[in-house]
Amino acid sequence: MSPDPVQRPRVLVARRLFDDVLEPLRQAFDVQFNPRDDIASAAELRTQLADKDGVLITASERIDAALLEACPRLRAVATMTVGFDHIDVAACAARGVVVTHAPDVLTETTADFGMALLLGAARQLGESERYLRAGRWKSWSADLFAGSDVHGTTLGIVGMGRIGRAIARRAALGFGMRVLYHNRKPLEPAQERESSASWRSLDELLEQSDHVMLALPYSESARHLIGAGQLARMRRGATLVNIGRGGLVDEPALAAALHSGHLGAAGLDVFEGEPVPNPVLLDAPRLLITPHIASASLPTRRDMVRVAMDNLLAVLRGGEALNPVPGAPRAVR
Ligand code: DGY
Repeated sequence: MSPDPVQRPRVLVARRLFDDVLEPLRQAFDVQFNPRDDIASAAELRTQLADKDGVLITASERIDAALLEACPRLRAVATMTVGFDHIDVAACAARGVVVTHAPDVLTETTADFGMALLLGAARQLGESERYLRAGRWKSWSADLFAGSDVHGTTLGIVGMGRIGRAIARRAALGFGMRVLYHNRKPLEPAQERESSASWRSLDELLEQSDHVMLALPYSESARHLIGAGQLARMRRGATLVNIGRGGLVDEPALAAALHSGHLGAAGLDVFEGEPVPNPVLLDAPRLLITPHIASASLPTRRDMVRVAMDNLLAVLRGGEALNPVPGAPRAVR
């Protein structure tokens, strides 16, 4: 017997994702899609979610206490991202709302991009291409866009989760780099060996690295983890790369360090105020900046959507979340 449509859970897919990937969701539940891909305001999202049991979101939708208050039916929030700093997990937990994310599937793709951003920043790919396209290249010269080497140098990784470890492997095996890392807790010895990486305090890491890669999740306690003081500790000519979240870096301080020449280069895939970069960043020299695309290979983005969907299917059918975030319930009680 087919299920009574009235009883089917109601779900919002907040953005235009991949229809073919989401077909099982459409078949299982009453799904409201967002074919125009516009980002709803907080008020619009509250209206759209007022009668929903579940929602599939991206990093652009914020789930906070005020929204939960206005959406009493909501039982499951599935983000297609690994980061979940756009969700108030404590507020969800207090209301019994299951929260899931999408770890693992994006690890290798994001690590590839971290290396691409490091290489591109250190070797000035962005500025040199703009220079050429603007018709400014007149002749080959020995120091034209002469950046710094990546191979054989020291990489300091801040945040040694799955993505940090995948970057460490690439850096050590592919580029012959010495890899240092900072994490609240050092890795298990076996994981350290596998990553060919050694733990340092944050200050030591900043002082001893030629290139620093931020690959940690954002939390209020990590806001502006890298400010003027930390940038001053970095080696002259060093590179800073951020693939975590924009809030980790004090952007005016970063711009000042690039202008002064203390930093050799920076690569940012994330920044505060996305999608509009602070003008100080756009004016800064030797800064390669991209629109939050570290996980954006087509196969990986499809997988991320699939993981979020599978979590919604599991939870709204009464089962346990496949990828619950820490601190939130695993199932609807
Ligand atoms: C993530 O999954 O957290 C990436 O930053 C994409 O938003």
